[in-house]
Amino acid sequence: MSQTLVVVGQGYVGLPMALRAAEVGLKVHGLDTNSRTVAALNAGVSHIDDVSDADLAAGLANGYEATADPACIENADVVVVCVPTPLAPEGGPDLRPVEVAAQAIGEHLSPDTLVILESTTYPGTTEEIFAPLVTRGRFEVGSDVFIAFSPERIDPGNKTFGVRNTPKVVGGMTPECTHRAREFYGLFIDTVVEARGAKEAEMAKLLENTFRHVNIALVNEMLRFSQELDIDLWDAIDCAETKPFGFMAFRPGPGVGGHCIPVDPSYLSHRVKAKLGYAFRMVELAEEINHAAPDYVASRVWSLLNDHGKAVNGAKVLLLGVTYKPDIADCRESPADPLAGRLLSWGADLSYHDPFVPRWSPRGADAELTSVTDLEAAVASADVVVLLQPHAQYDLDRLAAVGSPLLDTRGVIDQTEAVQRL
Ligand SMILES: NC(=O)c1ccc[n+]([C@@H]2O[C@H](COP(=O)([O-])OP(=O)(O)OC[C@H]3O[C@@H](n4cnc5c(N)ncnc54)[C@H](O)[C@@H]3O)[C@@H](O)[C@H]2O)c1
Repeated sequence: MSQTLVVVGQGYVGLPMALRAAEVGLKVHGLDTNSRTVAALNAGVSHIDDVSDADLAAGLANGYEATADPACIENADVVVVCVPTPLAPEGGPDLRPVEVAAQAIGEHLSPDTLVILESTTYPGTTEEIFAPLVTRGRFEVGSDVFIAFSPERIDPGNKTFGVRNTPKVVGGMTPECTHRAREFYGLFIDTVVEARGAKEAEMAKLLENTFRHVNIALVNEMLRFSQELDIDLWDAIDCAETKPFGFMAFRPGPGVGGHCIPVDPSYLSHRVKAKLGYAFRMVELAEEINHAAPDYVASRVWSLLNDHGKAVNGAKVLLLGVTYKPDIADCRESPADPLAGRLLSWGADLSYHDPFVPRWSPRGADAELTSVTDLEAAVASADVVVLLQPHAQYDLDRLAAVGSPLLDTRGVIDQTEAVQRL
C-alpha cells in the first residue's frame, strides 16, 4: 500500500489513528504544532493513556514519523485533521486551531488530495469555514481536491472499542468526496457508514453527545427528588434496565467532564442561536442540571458529615479519583474541580487520591495538592470519603470495609451503614 497520510494533531484522537494507519502499511506523518510533543513521539515517548510506548515503538518501526513541518502535506494523498475544538471564554466555539490547520493545508495542498476534518464542530463548519481555507480558490472541491467530515468517536480507556472496530461515519462535500473518504477509512477500519453529506456527519456527532448529555441530566435531576422522596433511584434504574427494548440505562454521577460531553452540545446550541435566533432548550437545561451536579455532591457531603455531628469546616474530606472518567489521566473539565472548590470554600481539609494524577491544583486551593501515598490510612483517617471515579485499580470492597463514611457517587459499592450512594 503506497498511500501517504498526514494526521494533523497528535493528541488523544490523532495519535491512535495515525498508528493504526501505519499498522496497515500507510506512510504516516503525525503533524503537530507542539514541538515538544513531536520530539517526544519521535523518541518513543507517548503522552496518550491509550497508546503505550510499546505501541508507539511499533508505529515508528512501521514508518510512522512525527513532525512539526507542514511541508509534509505537499506529498500527501490524504490529510486528516484532529485538532482541538474548545469553547471560547464567552462560551461560543473556538475554531482557531481548525482554521490554523486549514490554512497550513491550503498553503501546501497538491491536486487530487483527500482532506478530512475529524474535529468535533457545529454543522456547516466543513463547508463554510474549513473548505475555503483549504482550497483558497485554487481548487474545485469534488474534482481537483476532495473534502469530507468524519466524526471522531474514540472513547479513551475503552478496552472493547478502538479505532478499528468503532464504525466510522463519513460525509463528503460531494458524492465523490464521500466515496473517497469511505475508501480511505475502509483500509483500516472495519465498518464505514456514508452520511448524506458533511453537515449530516457533523450533526451525527453532536446528536450522539447531546443524547448522552441530556440523558445524564435526566437521571441527575431525578436523583435529587428521589432522594427526598426516599426512593432508591439506582435500584429503579437497575430494574428499568431489564426491559429488553426501548430503554438505555444512564446513571447519576458528580457531573459531566472531558473534552466532549460538556463542550460539544454547546457548539450546536450556539449555532442554532446564531443562525436562527432561538434556543436549543434541551441542551440549555441539561447544561444547567449537569453544571449543578458537583454542588449537589457537596451538599450531600455536608449532610453526611452533619449526620455524624460534624461540620464541613475543618473536616477531613478525601476525594478518590479526580479525572473526568475512570482509568485515564485526563482531568479536563472534571467535576472534581468545582466540587473541590466548593468544599474548600466551606473550609474543608481537602485531600485526594488518584493513581493517574500525582499532583493536582483544583480551584480554590492555596497550593498544589499531592495524591496521598497511603490510601488505606488516608481513608481510615478521613471524616468522609467521596468516590468520584472508580478506577479499576481501586479495591472498593476493601476501602469500604475500613468503615469511614463514604459517599459513592457512581453507585458501584454495596450500600452499608458507612456507604451511602449519591
Ligand atoms: N479526546 C476524546 O475523547 C475525543 C473523542 C471524540 C472526539 N474528540 C474531538 O477530537 C478533536 C481532537 O481532540 P483531542 O482530544 O485529540 O485533542 P488533544 O488536545 O488531545 O490533541 C490535539 C493536538 O493537536 C495539536 N494542535 C493544535 N492545533 C494544531 C494545529 N493547528 N496544527 C497541528 N497540530 C495542532 C495540539 O498540539 C495537540 O497535540 C476535538 O475536536 C475533540 O472534540 C475527542
